[in-house]
Amino acid sequence: MASWKGRDILSIRDFSRGDIETILKYARKMAPIAEGQKSSRSLDGRILASLFFEPSTRTRLSFESAIIRLGGGVLGFSSVEGTSVQKGETLADTVRMVEGYADVIVLRHPGAARLAAEFTERPVINAGDGAGQHPTQTLQDLYTIWDEKGKIEGQSIALVGDLKYGRTVHSIATALAGFGASLTLVSPPGLEMPWEIVEEVKATGTPVSMTHRLEDVVPTADVLYVTRIQKERFPDPQEYERVAGSYRVDLAILREAKKDLIVLHPLPRVTEIDPAVDRTPHAKYFRQAFNAVPVRMALLEMLLGVGG
Ligand code: CP
Repeated sequence: MASWKGRDILSIRDFSRGDIETILKYARKMAPIAEGQKSSRSLDGRILASLFFEPSTRTRLSFESAIIRLGGGVLGFSSVEGTSVQKGETLADTVRMVEGYADVIVLRHPGAARLAAEFTERPVINAGDGAGQHPTQTLQDLYTIWDEKGKIEGQSIALVGDLKYGRTVHSIATALAGFGASLTLVSPPGLEMPWEIVEEVKATGTPVSMTHRLEDVVPTADVLYVTRIQKERFPDPQEYERVAGSYRVDLAILREAKKDLIVLHPLPRVTEIDPAVDRTPHAKYFRQAFNAVPVRMALLEMLLGVGG
């Protein structure tokens, strides 16, 4: 694998399959540190800037947990309220200035991660860019599938929900194309996966099918990757009301599932997974949320040129 020291992580397309496999193995080595069973000072004195222009719980806190557990520190903001962005400061100036305060920049912004990276020599990690990409989420998702199933190749994976606006499904569909998995895309009418992503995936020879019916996929799926309808991305609130609550994974529908089906969700969930599912062996979404920490630890060490 080429050195990742100083590089940006802007899209899952930045990674080859070999890169991803190396990261997954690296993350597994970090798991005892992420769990607090082992300690490390590998990033002692390093500072992560956490710049969140849009809301987040998991991504921000897991990056913070990752750097703190490795001995580093964190600064930043979780909303633009109270920052000079409200006075009209540009993203370019914000990033140029933060460069002097931190060694790596984690940025959630509605769409300018790539632009931001042009204004700094520090590595920029795209922590979710509007309806675009969320590459580090995809790495934790792939890690979870690999860790739970032993392999990604050959898995029958159903992506369910808002495939139009959901950035996590855009990223994971692209990544899975390189892994020999088969994909079923399940969305309400009008929220289908953008055709250019479907074409990109199909061009790799990956089998792709589409349906609007959740019950079509539950009996054969190995992985059910459920997503929220992204209310905040709808230009028309009535359009959201038309599709809200389209799917709900509950105990009744899971009676039709394979015994070893795993249910994933990038979270937050709203109504699309019944909390009663949490107590079943299918539910892996909280483990998936934890897996963000070892994966992001591995990435931070790679970008900052330590460990390995
Ligand atoms: N999965 C995810 O990106 O969650 P947050 O929006 O809470 O960071």
